[in-house]
Amino acid sequence: MPFKLTEEFRETAARIRARYPRADAALIPLLHEVQREKGYVAEEAMDELAKFLELPYSRVKAVVTFYTMFNRAPAGKYHLQVCRNISCHMAGAPGLLARLREKLAIGEGETTADGLFTLSSVECLGACGAAPVMQVNETYFENLTLEKLDALLEDMRHGRLLTGAKEK
Ligand code: FES
Repeated sequence: MPFKLTEEFRETAARIRARYPRADAALIPLLHEVQREKGYVAEEAMDELAKFLELPYSRVKAVVTFYTMFNRAPAGKYHLQVCRNISCHMAGAPGLLARLREKLAIGEGETTADGLFTLSSVECLGACGAAPVMQVNETYFENLTLEKLDALLEDMRHGRLLTGAKEK
């Protein structure tokens, strides 16, 4: 369905915009709002936001493509984002990714056929002291082990995990 800024969204967006002296400072908060609402930031949404903020489309697109936290396509109910940077790498992130690839039978950037899981590896999540770290939707899981990961997957499969995302 094409993205259109609804009246309700425009009101929210105007409130967010008013908090910042410059339009470009409101861009990231508004992108978060779109993602919270739709689950991802479609090309049409970037175009609409660019018009709303009177910014060049290329500026909006550059921000969305730079930050891995913004999904550019619909993600699964649980978006598993494993940090791949040095602290997490040294603490076992490659093993976590391998376990997820094996158990979910998908590669990075893919979504399971049932729409439950999307798997990504991402740059530093800023919680290096608790490596290895995985972000699931808006929630961080730290000091992960393979056993903890298996238990988390079971909780997600049975709908027992709250991750701050809207139910889809
Ligand atoms: S290296 Fe993984 S959170 Fe920083």
